[in-house]
Amino acid sequence: MQRNISAAICGAGNIAKSHAIVLREMGIPILLVVDINEERAKAFAEKYGVENYSTNVDDIYKTKADCVHVCTPANLHFDMVKNLLEKGYHVFCEKPLCFDNEEAKTLYRLAKENNRLHAVGFNVRFHKGVQEARKLVAGPDFGPVKLIHGTYLQEYHVFPAPYDWRYNEKLAGRMRAVTEIGSHWSDLAEFISGKRITAVSALFSNFTPTRDLMDGMMYAPGSKPGSEEVTINSEDAALVHFQFEDGVVGSVVLSEASAGRVNHLSIEVTGQKQNVWWHSEENNRLNIGNKNQGVNTWVFPFSGGFRDTLRGLFATFYADIERGYADENSIYPTLYDGMRNVLICNAIYESATNSGKWISI
Ligand SMILES: NC(=O)c1ccc[n+]([C@@H]2O[C@H](COP(=O)([O-])OP(=O)(O)OC[C@H]3O[C@@H](n4cnc5c(N)ncnc54)[C@H](O)[C@@H]3O)[C@@H](O)[C@H]2O)c1
Repeated sequence: MQRNISAAICGAGNIAKSHAIVLREMGIPILLVVDINEERAKAFAEKYGVENYSTNVDDIYKTKADCVHVCTPANLHFDMVKNLLEKGYHVFCEKPLCFDNEEAKTLYRLAKENNRLHAVGFNVRFHKGVQEARKLVAGPDFGPVKLIHGTYLQEYHVFPAPYDWRYNEKLAGRMRAVTEIGSHWSDLAEFISGKRITAVSALFSNFTPTRDLMDGMMYAPGSKPGSEEVTINSEDAALVHFQFEDGVVGSVVLSEASAGRVNHLSIEVTGQKQNVWWHSEENNRLNIGNKNQGVNTWVFPFSGGFRDTLRGLFATFYADIERGYADENSIYPTLYDGMRNVLICNAIYESATNSGKWISI
């Protein structure tokens, strides 16, 4: 059944496809898709039943849709979200929200001043196991949180790897592993534990600063005679130590170039009494440790993958849009969380470029 509320999407790439599929399932009409690539915008509109398409970004500010989804590379997020909020749209922005701390604060302020509803793409929060972990940590049997640690490992950037916008500092910013995947992990650590990150100390590793570029793909340096040599400054991996509020400590290992790790986000939260751990490649399982009782594994047989997380996120976000205000129990990530994440990512960069110095958030 079609709902009396509508969406528009800017950027018709990979993540936008998942947005469109879920919005359609929810009966939310998509009035417009905008992409600078006309072929992509047209094909997207046809495939997902979008009423209109355009290659002119300004058209997104004229749509009659209630909510606009910003699914472009990150360099465009700030201007687009700012204009959309000022023009009165509700906004869903993919992560990372933007690059600059002051810009992030401006977006959050504008969302409040204009009384608009807003969400950021930290969809991992909506895995069933993650939500159950959060309840468990807040419950009476867990004890105060003491330690939070984990990993986020992917193989996406193992050679041969596409030389896409993620390697362009102007489009993606000065970091890669931290903003692309570390942003999900730190949001999750705060979400599950309820503890805010207060300081970070980080170390970056760029596995191969120069790479061979041929036909849009990158290869190991010196492995492709006749190729162009490109220099990559952003990190393939990062090691980050965290201080959280109330004396909680933590750490994460991030890597975008670990073969065999397709999309492995793991997190373990240790309380004084219990311990809980979860990872994305077995996302329907949650493990709970109790001293002398071994491990108790909860299995959620109908809990699914990536799209299910968007289903959960969009369901609560659009319920708020329909209601006209944010329910106090809504747990989707907002521009506040997006803003905090920008501050955390920039502090990580500052630390990594200053010999791991502790940087306060
Ligand atoms: N939440 C998640 O787990 C998740 C997963 C993947 C990507 N993302 C985020 O989503 C965003 C997009 O990533 P993607 O993987 O879909 O990238 P993508 O390259 O697949 O798609 C980006 C699209 O934006 C279009 N575009 C570029 N400049 C534009 C402009 N000026 N106006 C309109 N369209 C323009 C491109 O033509 C392309 O179609 C990024 O911020 C990324 O970090 C989030």
